[in-house]
Amino acid sequence: MCGIVGYIGYREAYPIVIKGLKRLEYRGYDSAGVMLYDGLEMKVAKAKGKVSDLEERAEKEITLNGTIGIGHTRWATHGVPNDVNSHPHISNSGDLAIIHNGIIENYAPLKAELIKRGYVFHSDTDTEVLVNLIEEVQKKDNLKLGKAVQVALNQVVGAYAIAVFDKKTPNEIVAARLGSPLAIGIGEGEYFIASDASPFIEYTSNAVYLEDGEMANIRLHKPMKVRKIQDDSLVNPTIQELQMNLEQIEKGGYDHFMLKEIYEQPSVIKDTYRGRLHANEGLIQMAGVEDNLEKFLNAERIIIVACGTSWHAGLVAEYIFEEFTRIPVEVEYASEFRYRNPIINRNDVVIAISQSGETADTMAAIKLAKENGAFVFGVCNVVGSSISRETHAGAYTHAGPEIGVASTKAFTTQITVLTMIALRLAKAKGTLSTSVFHAYLNELEIIPEKVKEALETNEKAKEIAAVFKDAPNCLYLGRGYNFPVALEGALKLKEISYIHAEGYPAAEMKHGPIALIDELMPVIVIAPKQGHYDKIVSNIQEIKSRSGKIIAVVTKGDTQVRELADYIIEIPETSDALSPLITTIPLQLLSYHIAVMRGCNVDQPRNLAKSVTVE
Ligand code: F6R
Repeated sequence: MCGIVGYIGYREAYPIVIKGLKRLEYRGYDSAGVMLYDGLEMKVAKAKGKVSDLEERAEKEITLNGTIGIGHTRWATHGVPNDVNSHPHISNSGDLAIIHNGIIENYAPLKAELIKRGYVFHSDTDTEVLVNLIEEVQKKDNLKLGKAVQVALNQVVGAYAIAVFDKKTPNEIVAARLGSPLAIGIGEGEYFIASDASPFIEYTSNAVYLEDGEMANIRLHKPMKVRKIQDDSLVNPTIQELQMNLEQIEKGGYDHFMLKEIYEQPSVIKDTYRGRLHANEGLIQMAGVEDNLEKFLNAERIIIVACGTSWHAGLVAEYIFEEFTRIPVEVEYASEFRYRNPIINRNDVVIAISQSGETADTMAAIKLAKENGAFVFGVCNVVGSSISRETHAGAYTHAGPEIGVASTKAFTTQITVLTMIALRLAKAKGTLSTSVFHAYLNELEIIPEKVKEALETNEKAKEIAAVFKDAPNCLYLGRGYNFPVALEGALKLKEISYIHAEGYPAAEMKHGPIALIDELMPVIVIAPKQGHYDKIVSNIQEIKSRSGKIIAVVTKGDTQVRELADYIIEIPETSDALSPLITTIPLQLLSYHIAVMRGCNVDQPRNLAKSVTVE
């Protein structure tokens, strides 16, 4: 995790770096630091806490001028979050400064060797080892910065996105990546370095995304040179035109990014299917699927790999794919899949789902699947992300930047993409009747309107939140397509409000969780009209007879559950298969309001980070 930002050019670096760090805070926010170079000296400020704490400290402790700067916002891996462990780290001579996102796995033997050579360490971090290793290599063979970085990186095992500055050659920053993302913005007479493009979006729309194993020598007034770390061969970097805009990454009048992103769902679901779903013509066209249609149609099995909320989207997709296409589907936590010697066949299609496109476990699962000859298809949100590049083909979700750490619009757009893929395959395989196929296309097209209607449950969700905000536990129940929604509802609540919550298939309740139910236990039951309505009504009765507090998400006009539940949230009617796109909405709102009422940091919950680039 961690976010890195660097600037070299003609403007004052400090405001660019600080603003950039704020935009990257979703990647980690337990401490932060900055180094500015003003032509004479390197000035470093660091602080435990948020970027705003760093700002306060920097303004007191250092002069803020300088047209070269690097900054870091941290999510601790080695060493507790404190001032000393914050980046940038400075080499023993005081000449080199580094910022690093990733983990150097063999830091212990490297550190021991450096200590033998007289190096002194001030922090507990692996990063301080790396900067001193670069210094040692540089001194030993009298190497220029770029070469020294390269030689040092060839000695390390692990993952990194780094930017290194040497005050002996102050017109240059060297950046490199392996396993952690790194984008370089190219302006007129200036360069920007960052974990993603958001810190420099208002300055340039041209960016190079370094590939794994590449490094860049970034020199003022010179074209950037990119080479492979391993063999020094030069690479011709592809300059990409950025697609995000500034408005997309700002809060747009909402109190939190999470709320903004919840409310964006009607429009981003439309963006997801725009140009792909042609309901009138009865067509679904997705380039990545069309180009690989045979692979999908010959698939003996689909394996979905993902983590967290993306894994929940995978579970919804399992129900959809099996029902629509009759292809067997397995859904795996990427972190388990990668280590359990799974059976992967050449005729398996692996679908990797990831909002960020940077999740380390998902990336490792993809590599394993590829090594075993499977075709790997990515469903990512971040354009140009590592996973989108590592997979054989894919489809973007087009949800726009998701800044709130708790995933919302990524989930519903992932389901939209996966539904479209399933429908396309169903058409080719003839596994859905023509009328049912057309009905789904038509329904998907109007889903954004229904999501909009579901957002009208906001006031009701707020009212219920006020009643249950102090509950220590919560149970979420759903059946069929809405079982994964129950899991997602519980995850949303626990991650942003710190209330313990569990999701269960409703019928499983009687195999254990029912013991938890008493008059203090709120049970959120997803009970739309389509699906296993009668069965879930029975489950609600079981809760009722044990005095549990029932909050039911029901279809508008429902009468039966209304009589049993303590609170109802009414949503528009949809088919069973598409209902997760609607039932999820009030659960997102409920978690949001509970977290706000509990005074939690909704957009940056404790201990979490938006993009989990460590395993
Ligand atoms: C929960 C959440 C996480 C992510 C998970 C995977 O709200 O955001 O559980 O879903 O870390 O991240 P991606 O989708 O970026 O691979």
